[in-house]
Amino acid sequence: MSDSIVTTEQTSAGRDTSAKVILRMEHINKDYEMPGETLHVLKDVSLTVHEGEFLAILGPSGSGKSTLMNIIGCLDLPTSGDYWLDGKYIFDEDETTLAQIRSKEIGFIFQSFYLLQRQTAFQNVELPLIYADLPEKQRKARVEECLARVDLSDKMYNLPNQLSGGQQQRVAIARAVANHPAILLADEPTGALDQKTGAQVMQLFHELNEEGNTIIMITHDGKIAAHAKRIVKILDGVISEGALEDA
Ligand SMILES: Nc1ncnc2c1ncn2[C@@H]1O[C@H](COP(=O)(O)OP(=O)(O)OP(=O)(O)O)[C@@H](O)[C@H]1O
Ligand SMILES: [Mg+2]
Repeated sequence: MSDSIVTTEQTSAGRDTSAKVILRMEHINKDYEMPGETLHVLKDVSLTVHEGEFLAILGPSGSGKSTLMNIIGCLDLPTSGDYWLDGKYIFDEDETTLAQIRSKEIGFIFQSFYLLQRQTAFQNVELPLIYADLPEKQRKARVEECLARVDLSDKMYNLPNQLSGGQQQRVAIARAVANHPAILLADEPTGALDQKTGAQVMQLFHELNEEGNTIIMITHDGKIAAHAKRIVKILDGVISEGALEDA
């Protein structure tokens, strides 16, 4: 496989059209040993994602989406196969190294937001920057910039339970982008939101992608997947590329 294959045209934001490979997986398998049988959950998954892509991974319940997301996000390791993330080879790393790679390279966005309930929006967004050892003054500026980016400058000191669902997800998105990760990795990001609020979150994803962020979004919902520029389908642990219509 060549690193020079370009799958996206990225002229709209004036970026380089020969985007670099940000994620590359080759022949990934994930097995679970169960009493009396081996469960093959991911089967020979190969996937290449370039910087600046907006990719959806679409599949029904039980197809292996979360298993794949956990491997992409360095929360879990495959049984076999090769994985490079932002040029680094991820294999057989210990938990400490995986945690470091995770906090530097991945901005996670989950269905249920996972905000710290006793911390304000500001403090939630600040946390990854504290882990990254950013000095306080720069931290404050970055948090304010990220919360302004998601249009929440007026809610910085609200606790999560003083925010609507859509606002909470926007805080989670501000937190995810704060460290300038290589990839924004979203698992059913609109799953807990009503249609209108979900559409606003998708609009924000479009804008973040236009600004150069690489987004990988996992969903079972074809309508949500349709927001992405590229769709990879997963069925029974096997992935395939294709148009939405034959999902
Ligand atoms: N730790 C585990 N041990 C054994 N089997 C597992 C484990 N984790 C997942 N599985 C199995 O792997 C398969 C894929 O699970 P996964 O959670 O990746 O599906 P999913 O596509 O995310 O589904 P959903 O849309 O319901 O979240 C399922 O059959 C599940 O039972
Ligand atoms: Mg899942």
